[in-house]
Amino acid sequence: MDIFRIKGPVRLSGSVTINSSKNASLPIMAASILAPGKSTLQLAPYLSDISVFSELLSQLGCQITRNNNGDINIDTSVIDTPVGEYEVVRRMRAGICILGPLLARCRTAQVSMPGGCAIGDRPVDIHLRGLRELGAKIHIENGYITAEAPHGLTGKEIFLGGPFGSTVLGTANILMAATLAKGKTLIESAACEPEIADLVNCLNKMGAKITGIGSPRLTIEGVQELHPFTYKVIPDRIEAGTFMVAAAITAGELQLKNCRLNDMMAIVDKLRNIGVIVEPANNGCIVARKKPIKTSDVTTQPYPGFPTDLQAQFMALLSLAEGNSIIIEKVFPDRFMHVAELNRMAANLRKEGPTVIISGVKKLIAAPVMASDLRASAALVLAALAAEGTTTIQRVYHIDRGYEKIEEKLNPLGAKITREKT
Ligand code: EPU
Repeated sequence: MDIFRIKGPVRLSGSVTINSSKNASLPIMAASILAPGKSTLQLAPYLSDISVFSELLSQLGCQITRNNNGDINIDTSVIDTPVGEYEVVRRMRAGICILGPLLARCRTAQVSMPGGCAIGDRPVDIHLRGLRELGAKIHIENGYITAEAPHGLTGKEIFLGGPFGSTVLGTANILMAATLAKGKTLIESAACEPEIADLVNCLNKMGAKITGIGSPRLTIEGVQELHPFTYKVIPDRIEAGTFMVAAAITAGELQLKNCRLNDMMAIVDKLRNIGVIVEPANNGCIVARKKPIKTSDVTTQPYPGFPTDLQAQFMALLSLAEGNSIIIEKVFPDRFMHVAELNRMAANLRKEGPTVIISGVKKLIAAPVMASDLRASAALVLAALAAEGTTTIQRVYHIDRGYEKIEEKLNPLGAKITREKT
């Protein structure tokens, strides 16, 4: 297992290019199942989640190859084993989003129940409710979901809201299943995340008939068949947000290329309010901090609200604000494994239910810490860049799931990160 050794504090400066979005790529890889033939995901990021998803598709019978330029070719001509195995899905919950497309194409599918993870209990009840509404018979046995629709799926009006609002992968699943259903499906309370809008764009390019893109009401006119795609997904707004925080926490200045500020209004608004400069610049932006960090209160919400996937990184940043800040987590109320680790680095954080009260400190101090999940580990890297001394972070495989060689991106900007094998 690799560890990071990070020497701080540093002030970052320079230019960095943001990758294609992980969370847009995964459902779009699943969408390839809907159209027998050869699809290409252009310039896909080199992330372990992408490799695990490729493994999942291979187990179904698909042929996956990767070009030197990063393009992933997925040949879905043959799908002879419509089963998402526990061994793969337990490593990456996004595996659940093969369920809808497999059911639509093969009329039968078996996918392991994903189970919980470090960010909390993550049920899939809404996914299953939506598929049942489309006519699937579903039962759960031995930890596997079996879904069957021997005569195909039928369009329906479906309300997809849940106790925490919309569901991103739930929307992806139902949306993909509905593209090949008989008749019209209306999804109310659909997720509005840019990654879902990107999936809709890709599905429409494949021949689907979906309207309402980017809104909570999606209408899908079922079609008989879809065609394979060649598609380049949107830039990763969470990677971009993480680099924005990196500029801010180190009082540095970074130019982000391949970044869509339009997808990041809530993030940019918070950064500007705490004294960080964010200016659009060709195909991206410049982010800089020249003044002390002001306090803030942040509530995570489904898009267009502030994303839960940047909550941990903002907590690291607000740890250094002049005064008290509050973060309320309304998407995954237990997503706080980083709190204790940041406190080990001399932050002053107090968790009260789904809320963390942050008393700003003058400096963070290096410590040995443990990564617990993808975004929590990003927060630890950010804190370590600003902390005095050498921080060691264990279990960095978590960060490799969603950030492509983060140390190779940060070091040319002034970071001092080494990756070591233990
Ligand atoms: N929920 C239910 N029932 C369901 C589905 C979801 O109650 O059937 C609840 C969840 O427990 C949560 C809320 O609804 O409280 C929202 O969860 P959602 O389904 O939207 O999450 P997801 O689709 O499983 C995706 C991202 C996550 C991101 C969330 C929220 C991918 C591959 N994953 O997960 O990304 O945090 O949306 O925006 O797109 C990450 O990249 O680090 C990550 C965890």
